[in-house]
Amino acid sequence: MAGSSWPTKAQLHEIRNKVSEISGRHAEEVQVVVSPYRICPLGAHIDHQGGIVSAMTINKGILLGFVPSGDSQVFIRSGQFKGDVRFRVDEIQQPRNTVKKIDLTHASDTAKVQEASGWGNYARGAVYALQSRGKYLAQGIIGYICGSENLDSSGLSSSAAVGVAYLLALESANNMKVSAIDNIEFDRLIENEYLGLRNGILDQSAILLSSYGCLTCMNCKTKEYQLIRPSKLHNSHKILLAFSGLKCNLTTNPGYNCRVAECQEAARVLLRASGKDEVEPLLCNVKLEDYEAHKCKLKPIPAKRAEHYFSENMRVIKGLEAWASGNLENFGKLISASGLSSIHNYECGCEPLIKLNEILQKAPGVFGARFSGAGFRGCCLAFVDASRAEEAAAYVREEYSKHQPELASQLNLDSAVLICEAGDCARVI
Ligand code: GLA
Repeated sequence: MAGSSWPTKAQLHEIRNKVSEISGRHAEEVQVVVSPYRICPLGAHIDHQGGIVSAMTINKGILLGFVPSGDSQVFIRSGQFKGDVRFRVDEIQQPRNTVKKIDLTHASDTAKVQEASGWGNYARGAVYALQSRGKYLAQGIIGYICGSENLDSSGLSSSAAVGVAYLLALESANNMKVSAIDNIEFDRLIENEYLGLRNGILDQSAILLSSYGCLTCMNCKTKEYQLIRPSKLHNSHKILLAFSGLKCNLTTNPGYNCRVAECQEAARVLLRASGKDEVEPLLCNVKLEDYEAHKCKLKPIPAKRAEHYFSENMRVIKGLEAWASGNLENFGKLISASGLSSIHNYECGCEPLIKLNEILQKAPGVFGARFSGAGFRGCCLAFVDASRAEEAAAYVREEYSKHQPELASQLNLDSAVLICEAGDCARVI
């Protein structure tokens, strides 16, 4: 695990002491799940259609300190959210389907959004996922969870990092050996079945499989993955995260599931036109030549979603080559092209994010930029020349506050633009 600068010894020490206070156990007995946030430079919005995606983790994320509770009780306190979570692992959990039919795209009331999403749902969702695959738990946990400051609901997949953290803690407390691939599936059950978000497996694959310095490539149809280490070292770049000030949890936003349905509509028409009605309507089941032959039959909205899918798959494949050969200029250009396709074909960037993306494109030393995550809120990411990262960050901070003064004023000046590095995979220490 050498390489990632997170978590520090001081952060681990602090979390062990918190759990010791809550549980009355010795700090040395406390184990900590380290579950990093992820970025997806290429492969946006195609995981739910079985596409090929690329991802890596960063040196920030979720820490969950825990001890086995000694019985079936779960007790969790959060560093960010109010209220303790208490339940028993031997209670049978039922799906909650929290995806609301309300539009909170522009919600600024973070507390309301958090309340709607219910932070404790992820712990219950982890128990649900394990139970629904026949893994019944006897042992609960007493834990304290906290995320890197101000980064929740930012498009860095804090929800998958939280889900993975609870899975790893519960499995460890119950002496269960579970492979990364099985945990990818368990986290999918938390999001798709328990919470009702129809997302793909990009987030948890990145969190569970990534390795410092590599780009993780996941085929979301076959579940085959590769870790791509560049032929020459990329120590010349940093990852810039620029925050918009817009926060909205995906499970409270209907926009995400709506785009998934539009992609499936495109797949249905293309499969029917190519005589494959019986195949599951996912764009990965449509051959490129069938898409080319029948795309004229698509209505305007499904046509744009399909164009994003097929062009993004191609960008991922070119991007893997660029990364492997250490060509950050080409890698960056593909990221920016991917961002434009998300805006014009997938139509999911909101105005402040689009402006922020434009600002990043002009910032000194930036190889390429796009918005992170689903694009309805959160942050933009950029790959930047390491020697110009500070200059780029200062430029973005200043320009964004000129264009979006109200949103920029809600951001903490120190954390409005962060200079990050790559991280490792989720683990228990
Ligand atoms: C969110 C979803 C992922 C993926 C991205 C967009 O993070 O959870 O499954 O679709 O958006 O690439």
